[in-house]
Amino acid sequence: MNFEFTEEQLMIRDAARDFAQRELLPGVIERDDKAEYPTEQVKRLAELGFLGMLVGLEYDGGGMDTISYVLAMEEISKVDSSVSVIMSVNNSLVCWGVEKYGTEEQKQKFLKPMARGEKIGAFLLSEPEAGSDATSQRTTAVDMGDHYLVNGTKNWITNGNSASTYIVMAQTHPELKHKGINALLVDAKSEGVFVGPHENKMGMRASDTCSVMFNNVKVPKENRLGEEGFGFKLAMQSLEGGRIGIASQALGIASGAYELALKYAQERKAFGKEIIHHQAIAFKLADMAVEIEAARFFCLKAAWLKDQGQPYGHASAMAKLYAAETAMKVTTEAVQIHGGYGYVKEYHVERLMRDAKLTQIYEGTSEIQKIVISRGLMG
Ligand code: CAA
Repeated sequence: MNFEFTEEQLMIRDAARDFAQRELLPGVIERDDKAEYPTEQVKRLAELGFLGMLVGLEYDGGGMDTISYVLAMEEISKVDSSVSVIMSVNNSLVCWGVEKYGTEEQKQKFLKPMARGEKIGAFLLSEPEAGSDATSQRTTAVDMGDHYLVNGTKNWITNGNSASTYIVMAQTHPELKHKGINALLVDAKSEGVFVGPHENKMGMRASDTCSVMFNNVKVPKENRLGEEGFGFKLAMQSLEGGRIGIASQALGIASGAYELALKYAQERKAFGKEIIHHQAIAFKLADMAVEIEAARFFCLKAAWLKDQGQPYGHASAMAKLYAAETAMKVTTEAVQIHGGYGYVKEYHVERLMRDAKLTQIYEGTSEIQKIVISRGLMG
C-alpha cells in the first residue's frame, strides 16, 4: 500500500489551493451574504480546467484521476463550497454519464463544451415528491415517435439556472416503475422549460439552486442517454461518483474549519495562556484532527477504487456518510472554539457550519447512505 501522492496529484492540489486562497477567499463572505452566483470565479474554474477535470483528454477534459479530484475538491471547499458544488455536479453527475453512456454525437455536442467549462450541466432527479424515494418519479417523458414530450417539475436543482444542459430523469412507462425511467439530455433553452427563483438557502448560498418546470418540452429521441429504461440505473451510478465529490467537499469544509480553529486557538489567550494549552480546547482539536484524517482516508479509498476500475458505490456511500457527519461535528466545534467570534461572519466558521449541513442532505441524505451501506453488507 502506497500513501504517497504523485507529483502531478500534488501539483493539482497546490493549484486548487492557490486558486481558492487567492481568488475565492476575497469576496466569499459577501457572495454568501448576497446569495450572489460566483460568475467570475466559475469562469476561472473553467480556465484552470477544474470544471471538466475528470473527463478524458479526447473530449476536451483534464484527463485527471479521481484522487486528484478529491484533493482539488478539498482545497476549494475549504474556502467556498458554493463554487466546489458547481465543479462536483458538472464533473460527476453530468459529464460522467455522458462520457460513459453517451453516443459519439452526444459527446461531441454536449460533453465537450461542458468539459471545457464553456457550458455547465445540471442533474435533474429530485422532485417535490421524490427526494430520497427517487424511484417515485412523476415527471413524464411520453414517447411520441421521433421525440419525447416532457412534463413535470424538478426541484433542488444545483446549477438549475446557470446550466445549459440538463440530464432529466423522466418516466416513460409508469407500469414498469423504475425500469420505465429514461435519462434525457435537454437543452435548458428548449421551449417549455421554466426556471424557478433562486432558493434562499441556509448555506452554500451563492450556488444556484432552483426548481425547473417542463411544460410539453420536445426532446429528440437521439438525446436519450443509454438504452430505453436505463435512466434510473444511470442516475444511481452517477450518484456513486457524485458522492465522492460531496464527501471530498465535506472533508474540505471540515479541514477548513479545523485550520481556522487551530490558528485561533494558538493566538487567543484566556486565563494567562493561549487557549490551545487548555485541555478542553486541545482535546477538541485532537478529536477534530482524527476525524478529518479518517474522512480523508474514506474519500481517497473510494477514489482509488474508482480509478482502479473496481466497484466503488459502497465505499463512496461510506465516505459521504462519514465526511458529512465529520463536517457537521468539526464545524460546530470550530464555532465553539472561536466563542463569540465564531458566531459572526468575519471569522468564516459560521458559514462553514451552515455549508456543512447541506452535505448531510444532498446527493443522498446520511440516512440514505446507511441504506446503501447496509444493503451492501447483506450481499
Ligand atoms: N447502480 C446501479 N443500479 C442501482 C444502484 C446503483 N448504485 N442502486 C440501485 N440500483 C438499481 C437496483 O439494482 C434496482 O434495479 P433492479 O430492479 O433492476 O434490480 C433499482 O435500481 C431500484 O433499486 P432499489 O430497489 O434499491 O430502490 P429503492 O427504491 O429501494 O432505493 C435508493 C434506492 C438507494 C434509496 C435510491 O432511491 C437513492 O439513492 N435515493 C437517494 C436519491 C439521491 O441521492 N438524490 C440526490 C439528488 S441529486 C442531488 O442532490 C444533486 C445536486 O444537485 C447536488
